[in-house]
Amino acid sequence: MTLPSQGIARDALLTQLERYKGRDVDWKGGRTFAYTYDPGAEAMAVGKIAFASFLTENALDPTVYPSLMRLENEIVGICASHLNLPAGGVGTFTSGGTESILLAVKSARDIARATRPEVTRPNMVMPVTAHAAFHKAAAYFDVALVLVEVDAVTFRVDPDALDAAIDEQTVLVVASSPGYAHGVMDPIAAIAARCHARGMLFHVDACVGGWMLPFWRRLQAAEGVPAAAQIPEFDFALPGVTSLSVDLHKYGFCPKGASVVLFRTPELRAAAQFSCSNWTGYTVVNPSVQSSKSGGPLAGAWSVLHVLGDAGYLDITKQLRDATIALLAGISAIEGLEIMGSPEMCLFAFTSEDVDVFHVADEMKERGWYIQPQLSHVGPTGQRYPGNVHLSLNSAGTLARVPAFLADLREAVVAARQLPDVRPDAELGAMLAAASETALSGEEIAGMLSLVGVAVGAEGAELPTRMAAINRMLDAMPPKMEEAVLGGFMSSLYAPTR
Ligand SMILES: Cc1ncc(COP(=O)(O)O)c(C=O)c1O
Repeated sequence: MTLPSQGIARDALLTQLERYKGRDVDWKGGRTFAYTYDPGAEAMAVGKIAFASFLTENALDPTVYPSLMRLENEIVGICASHLNLPAGGVGTFTSGGTESILLAVKSARDIARATRPEVTRPNMVMPVTAHAAFHKAAAYFDVALVLVEVDAVTFRVDPDALDAAIDEQTVLVVASSPGYAHGVMDPIAAIAARCHARGMLFHVDACVGGWMLPFWRRLQAAEGVPAAAQIPEFDFALPGVTSLSVDLHKYGFCPKGASVVLFRTPELRAAAQFSCSNWTGYTVVNPSVQSSKSGGPLAGAWSVLHVLGDAGYLDITKQLRDATIALLAGISAIEGLEIMGSPEMCLFAFTSEDVDVFHVADEMKERGWYIQPQLSHVGPTGQRYPGNVHLSLNSAGTLARVPAFLADLREAVVAARQLPDVRPDAELGAMLAAASETALSGEEIAGMLSLVGVAVGAEGAELPTRMAAINRMLDAMPPKMEEAVLGGFMSSLYAPTR
């Protein structure tokens, strides 16, 4: 592809862009249980207008754009109040959960570099359920990971096991509130107490839950749920919590590119910052990973927070909470399906021992619903976490759709039981399990993908409509090989259009 010789007229161009969206998932109205968060038409519209009106402003230099500094300070202030950050605490607005997590890990590593000369091979200790973003941070910042198994029934980490995994090279402990995969909260208070006693930094990943959980707890309190059964404390009210990430572009329902990382002290944030005057240009001082930073996400987030307000968030939380209760009850009543652990919020996973849940996901897709397959996992001591299907309820519209969803899910399970077993046969399974990623060339990866019906063309990947066979094949591979195959697939998708 080359640049058009003459500019294209605005209407034609916008029409073309809309056409590009044609094959995207339809996320509006509660049929897609991942990826998007829908605050309703009015708040969405306000967020979009505000986003566009600040798109060109650049937060790279707050002295040039004081409006953006003001927006950031107000947003971080709102998050600080919401999550009990004491006076003196600070925060940074980032592009998303991953960036917030990268900053928390960089902060911990650099604090150790500055204050603990004995740390030569820094590590961080976390449950296997912690988000992949921490693996990315570990890889980017050369911090080793010490992974701790979680309980096979509750999917919660044992605080003593986490504590026991800390050694003299540990720079950070991590836990989730809740974790994405199963929507289960780690025992944050118990972990915080242990970290506090040791003087160990402790990051709470509240990317997915940090914004909504306080509203959820207030609903419980108002409805007379006993304190012991309410959402437990997970934020800076616990003295051992030293940093926390909260994504506004998830259950804050703000346009994408909006997260906040909060630090208990300015020193912790200073260690996340990057500065450079050692070149011929302007001095760079970046509190976040980005340098040039559009004002769009700041204005979008500020506007959605203000247009919904406290009452708006309480209302959405109530609708999603009620939808969750109805869905959990309905799914548990379907023979063969099992909810994993006791999810605390409006995201959860179900699994099955006698029906292939990846077939169920395909059958639901046929019926117009997107639910998210998650592959099985083997932890560091060999503990097996079964494959499952994840649902994040992300639209107030979900509540009205619960009966239709459950009716379709019941049908999908019946249909899935009739479908052939697509797990690799014993021979292929053994071969995949034993293979190492280094044994596969790019061509072999492509061959493997085409074997299960994946073709890559100009319009992107031609995935087969049914994914169960692919998911089962990936599921049979060791993680490194799965990463190599999916990494190869991703590379083949991103090829310049010529
Ligand atoms: C608990 C948790 N942490 C971190 C992330 C990463 O956030 P992002 O996709 O915004 O980078 C997610 C994303 O779903 C999450 O659920």
